[in-house]
Amino acid sequence: ESMTQEAKRPLLSEGKKRASLGEVERIFLPSTTVNNWDQIQKFRFKDDDLLICTYPKSGTTWIQEIVDMIEQKGDVEKCRRSVIHHRHPFIEWARSPQPTGVDQANAMPSPRILKTHLPTQLLPPSFWESTCKIIYVARNPKDCMVSYYHFQRMSQTLPEPGTWEDYFENFMNGKVSCGSWYDHVKGWWKAKDKRQILFLFYEDIKENPRREIQKVMKFMGKNLDETILDIIEQETSFEKMKENPMTNRSTVPKTIMDQSISPFMRKGIVGDWKNHFTVAQNEKFNNDYKKKMEGTSLTFRMEI
Ligand code: A3P
Repeated sequence: ESMTQEAKRPLLSEGKKRASLGEVERIFLPSTTVNNWDQIQKFRFKDDDLLICTYPKSGTTWIQEIVDMIEQKGDVEKCRRSVIHHRHPFIEWARSPQPTGVDQANAMPSPRILKTHLPTQLLPPSFWESTCKIIYVARNPKDCMVSYYHFQRMSQTLPEPGTWEDYFENFMNGKVSCGSWYDHVKGWWKAKDKRQILFLFYEDIKENPRREIQKVMKFMGKNLDETILDIIEQETSFEKMKENPMTNRSTVPKTIMDQSISPFMRKGIVGDWKNHFTVAQNEKFNNDYKKKMEGTSLTFRMEI
């Protein structure tokens, strides 16, 4: 589907009021998260927690399903016990009347699997005192930007993204929820020196899901046989997850996610940025990227 076809759909359901963003240490976050900041900062991590961490739209749901499938030893029925966003508490989630992410995590028996989109500097202090394991998934910034743009068109809990041209600038300048993509990936890449982090890339999982699933399995200290790995690989494909009501967010009310605007399981490919970036935008992006990523050993495959 080309950009022009996607853009023809309405940007927003008319007259609906969108949620706003707040700020913590000059990083934009949903205002519901900012309003619950005290509780989030007091959250206690445990040494046997496994934290799934991503910048938004980097394949969070995908890695969550992979991790849960491994945890449940490939038992498909067990993985359908509830929707994916309830299986792993989302630490900074705070939207009444549901219990907050912190409440959900506190009510969960250990060992817990948790999710966050927070940059390293905003994590609750207890995180740095714990030895919990972390799985970080990073996605190339061009596709991440495209995915985030379409997500913001449909997610009623984030502000309208505005035009693609405006969004392009805002993303590059970190004026989106969870702040700068560059700071996020660089921060977590650096944290690798101090912490047990399995650092994965969306593009690698796409290229060879089996290889990456095995990495996750080993990191989780599990050993599953090949037939179970076959099931996990099949069940976590984009096609399967798009059809699966426990992963495709189809149970989320339209007032939160209006999937008639853009589906949550949108395309699931590498390189959709080529359908969105103009030649001039690409040049501008590449120059800016070079400056912002200078000095880091972290590299991305964007041209595949
Ligand atoms: P697109 O918008 O490019 O399609 P998150 O879960 O972090 O919000 O990330 C959502 C992105 O991951 C979306 O990207 C979505 O389609 C993609 N995705 C989800 N499940 C996937 C899977 N099994 N395989 C590939 N991509 C997947």
